This record gives sequence, C-alpha cells and structure tokens, in this order.
Amino acid sequence: MILPDTCIAPSLLSADFARLGEEVRNVVDAGADWIHFDVMDNHYVPNLTIGPMVCEAIRPHTTAPIDVHLMVEPVDAIIPQFAQAGANIITFHPEASRHPDRTLALIRDHGCRAGLVFNPATPLHWMDYVMDKLDVVLLMSVNPGFGGQQFIPGTLRKLRDARRRIDAWTQAGGQPIRLEIDGGVKVDNIGAIHAAGADTFVAGSAIFGADDYRAVIDAMRGEILKARGRSA
Ligand code: DX5
Ligand code: ZN
Repeated sequence: MILPDTCIAPSLLSADFARLGEEVRNVVDAGADWIHFDVMDNHYVPNLTIGPMVCEAIRPHTTAPIDVHLMVEPVDAIIPQFAQAGANIITFHPEASRHPDRTLALIRDHGCRAGLVFNPATPLHWMDYVMDKLDVVLLMSVNPGFGGQQFIPGTLRKLRDARRRIDAWTQAGGQPIRLEIDGGVKVDNIGAIHAAGADTFVAGSAIFGADDYRAVIDAMRGEILKARGRSA
C-alpha cells in the first residue's frame, strides 16, 4: 500500500533499547517512513532518554529519515551535534528556545528540515511569523515526556486549525509544510486524526508494543485510506 503523501513515524521511545539497531531495521522493513527519535533532558520534561551519540549509532542501520524531536532546554547547542549525527528533521518546542526564529534558521543552516512542536496548551500563533522557516509543524496530543499516554481529544480541533493555516500558506505560494501528530496515536483513532488534517503520524507504543509491526502499520494505512474515502 503506497500513500506517498502520508508518513508513519514509529517512535523509538517504545522500542527495545538493548537492540535499537535491529529495532530500526525491523520497523523500516515493516513499512515505517520516518524514525521518530525522542530526546528528553530531565529538565524541559521529567524524563531522560537518548542523545546525538545514539542517533549516530542508529544512522548506519537505515536510510529512512531520522526525525529528532527535541524536548530539551536550552535548544541551540545540541542542534549541530544532531546534524553531525545524521538527523534529517529536527523539531523543538518554541517555549524552550529564547529565539525560535534563530533556532529554526540554525537547523536549516545545518542542512536539516526544521519544525516547531506545540504542547497541548501551546497556542498555534507561535507559527505565524516563522511560516517561511517551517518544514514541519508537530502537534503534541499528549503532554510530552512519556510514551503510552491517552490521546487528548481536543487536539482534533487544533489539528483542523493548524491545517487551515498551513493550507492558506501553501495556497499563497509558500513552501509545503508537513503536519505531524505525536502521542496516543493508535489504529482506532488514526482515521479521525487524518481527517482532521494530519499527514505524518508518530506512534510508539502502538507499533513497538505489538508483536507484528507490519500488521499495525498496514492497519494504520488502511484506516487512513478509509478516512480519505469518507471525506472524498
Ligand atoms: C512523548 C513522545 C512521543 C511518544 C509517543 O513525549 O514525544 O513521541 O513516544 O508514544 P505513544 O505513541 O506511545 O503515545
Ligand atoms: Zn515525540
């Protein structure tokens, strides 16, 4: 099944950390488009995960884009390190940077695609004056810090709002911007999430918590297709 304009991005946060290279290969073989890489610093969020050294270690295991989600404060110093470690996309939370416009430019200057991440309570207007520097907008549908949380339903309304802003931008001649969702994405809600406007779907526990990664990814694509059929 090929849906080139949608992207499934399994989150390594729920993978087996003792076998990360193998997990990356397996999930890409199972149909993953991007690898979502959650970086937590026990400061911006109450959890501590993985950094540029681990990104560098998994890089030889796949050619799929590595989507680095920075949940760290401050942000800027670590960006060159992730670019050097082979990251393709780097997103950060604008409240964690003193100068989000400068941080976006820094990411792009290092050859990566750049994006802002919006917590459930963070208003979308943070994107208004930096649209030209965005490749990705990532909406959190849980509070960041942990995998396996419940999808916050109000995110659907926020997705529709973000979709409108992005469509208005591209229709006026702006560059394409992906709309990514992260947190509590499952087979049974991905259709509604796509219908609300998301084109890129992070899923951690739903994929790595299953025995058969391909079955979950295929089922997710099936639900996306069904949702499209309903809206067509
Ligand atoms: C949470 C992370 C997510 C997390 C998603 O702070 O940003 O990427 O891994 O996990 P699930 O899909 O289990 O909610
Ligand atoms: Zn994430």
